[in-house]
Amino acid sequence: MKVLVATQKPFAAVAVKGIREILEAAGHEVVLLEKYAEQSDLEKAAADADAMIIRSDKVTPEVIAAAPRLKTVVRAGAGYDNVDLDAATAKGIVVMNTPGQNANAVAELAIAMMIYMARTQFTPATGSEIQGKTLGIQAFGNVGRLVGAKAKALGMKVKAIDPFLPAQKIAEGGAEPAKDLDDLYATGDYVSIHIPATPQTIHSIGYDLLMKMPKGATLINTARKEVIDEAGLEKALEERPDLKYAADVAPDNLAALQEKFGLRVFATPKKMGAQTSEANINAGLAAARQIVAFFESGDKRFQVNK
Ligand code: 3PG
Repeated sequence: MKVLVATQKPFAAVAVKGIREILEAAGHEVVLLEKYAEQSDLEKAAADADAMIIRSDKVTPEVIAAAPRLKTVVRAGAGYDNVDLDAATAKGIVVMNTPGQNANAVAELAIAMMIYMARTQFTPATGSEIQGKTLGIQAFGNVGRLVGAKAKALGMKVKAIDPFLPAQKIAEGGAEPAKDLDDLYATGDYVSIHIPATPQTIHSIGYDLLMKMPKGATLINTARKEVIDEAGLEKALEERPDLKYAADVAPDNLAALQEKFGLRVFATPKKMGAQTSEANINAGLAAARQIVAFFESGDKRFQVNK
């Protein structure tokens, strides 16, 4: 089978080598498409692919239509909002992710961002310490739990909420269950977001929640830019000169925010939460193994479009 590894943001070379070895050992052919400029490049490359490994690459209805042989798409990572699931399902294409494989890299970045903002973006201005502060974790999945454990080790008080987890499970995971989302924001000196982008979560975090945060609070977003109501964020930053925002997923209004609010706002130039060689190896090799198992035995364990 022909497996297209389509990564606009490339994996580390060591991960590409590992992916190739796994797939070729199972008799598959690997085609690599990295750093492509246009969506049409992806459509062309997908034309004779039986399987695809992607990252945040956009698998649109056009890509699906251009790929008549496609049987499976594996998102080497957690979030699959970049794949048009309806279009894939309509063609019987199995879409999978590799949950948890890059979680530690994202969790480390969330912690790093808290410290970076506490230390006013590493400028000489007097900063603060995160020890003793309260961290609210919005969604206690693979990333959220790791952020919680690391924050506790740094002396933070950790609270969490997750719509899919009862309070008891959150407590077992080492965090104090927040009463509700308002409570999480009202008590979090830091709130770290780990929710996926879904119709329910898109634009769900904005003015009202931000205005509940305690004095000097910081919102950390290593999830998706779409979950933020950007106009609400701007308004809250305007009215509350003590609030800060740091994101691994730059808001569309970043230039305006940075001009108005300076060091209170930070965003990475390109999403880099999962951009470590360890995470590339974990997620990339898991994706390759899932493709081998899918073609060998029909294994669909990580299918997300059931
Ligand atoms: C994910 O959903 O796994 C992360 O956002 C990482 O995305 P990336 O593979 O594009 O870095």
